[in-house]
Amino acid sequence: MIEYKIPKSTGSKRPVAGLKVENRPLLLQDVKIERTERWKLADTELNRCLGGGMIPGGIVLLAGEPGIGKSTLLLQVATMFPGKVLYVSGEESNEQIKLRADRMKTSAKDLWLVSEVELEKINHHISQVKPDLVILDSIQTTHSGHLEGEPGNIAQLRHCTMEMQRLAKSTNIAVFIIGHVNKEGGIAGPKILEHIVDTVLYFEGDKQYNFRLLRVNKNRFGNTDEIGVYKMSRSGLEMVEDPSMLFAAQSSEELSGCATAVMVEGGRPFMVEVQALVTPTVYAAPQRSATGFDLRRLSMLLAVLEKRCGFPLGKQDVFVNIAGGIRAQDPAIDLAVIVALMSSFRDQALSRKICFCAEVGLAGELRPVHRFEQRVKEADRLRFDRIVCAASHSMVHRTPNNIAISQVGNVNELLEILFY
Ligand code: TYD
Ligand code: MG
Repeated sequence: MIEYKIPKSTGSKRPVAGLKVENRPLLLQDVKIERTERWKLADTELNRCLGGGMIPGGIVLLAGEPGIGKSTLLLQVATMFPGKVLYVSGEESNEQIKLRADRMKTSAKDLWLVSEVELEKINHHISQVKPDLVILDSIQTTHSGHLEGEPGNIAQLRHCTMEMQRLAKSTNIAVFIIGHVNKEGGIAGPKILEHIVDTVLYFEGDKQYNFRLLRVNKNRFGNTDEIGVYKMSRSGLEMVEDPSMLFAAQSSEELSGCATAVMVEGGRPFMVEVQALVTPTVYAAPQRSATGFDLRRLSMLLAVLEKRCGFPLGKQDVFVNIAGGIRAQDPAIDLAVIVALMSSFRDQALSRKICFCAEVGLAGELRPVHRFEQRVKEADRLRFDRIVCAASHSMVHRTPNNIAISQVGNVNELLEILFY
């Protein structure tokens, strides 16, 4: 529960008499489209996520956990932006930002910095500097003097975001707003701002690992089926063009409990390693734990293994981990999870040269996945010998390295071949 003070209303309703209406309804075919040139960013991953660049007058919310690299990403964008930029920070001083820019070995000609938290003063700075792009870091530290309450409370967050939205639309300035989310997804934070802004990007990753994913949650100016992949290095964020290299198995040693899946995120295929550990439980109730994979989905897959394949897993602790700290949402990794579980249960290692992509249904049947051909090509490019998939896929044309495609009807059939 969050305490929320309702701002006092002035009580006066707008009189209907003398009402001025500037707008009038238009026929769809009469609406004129003004082509606005997008600002092309030097960061091609971000460009793609935005649908081809930053729209003048567009407002983008970049949300993520504290310390994930939001300020780093946007400072990088600011230093390479083709126009004039105002970077408003309520979290760091100008010196700190300069130090960070030095560490990232970047400099910029037309980047202006100001440390400010009060919305009215920020508006003043914007009208003075007249930038093409404003970066507000962060919305949680910004507050308006016209409203009661601490910065970061719901009324302040909403008011400040709406003001920035109004400013962006009336002046055609492009705006990036940084918003922090907490581990639980931040219902009290950026979630309530999503409907106000044009585009919502989530920056995520595990802080223990150095890769970061940029997911598009909403975009009024483009596709939400895009993803940006970065690596955090000593000198800032590097774009990753070949994500498979990041998440695929790091060694060629064959270990039980490991299986490789071909997943697709944001239209890009990449390999991830699924690891499972199945051991007899010492407690009354067996433990089930999943990192990077949905726990309910895991329970479902375990039930399929029990019921359809007759493996007694009720007295086993089960742990599943998607290596590299990635959070896998693509159902195509189901099959790799099942195979990893069985490989651990039987303590039998699999060849590193096989990969899997299929959704598993409640009857234990393998279901086809989208972008199948793309997945096969990726597996082939990375020199896998064999890819296992559902029987209902139509065959793919020959690939350069001639990967073998094994089509299998159900889990039972596959496990019999793999673990005779
Ligand atoms: P930051 O952008 O400050 O996170 P946010 O704004 O999302 O809170 O980044 C924080 C982390 O990034 C910090 O722990 C240090 C790390 N980092 C690097 O590893 N390399 C770099 O070049 C920079 C600038 C930061
Ligand atoms: Mg920051």
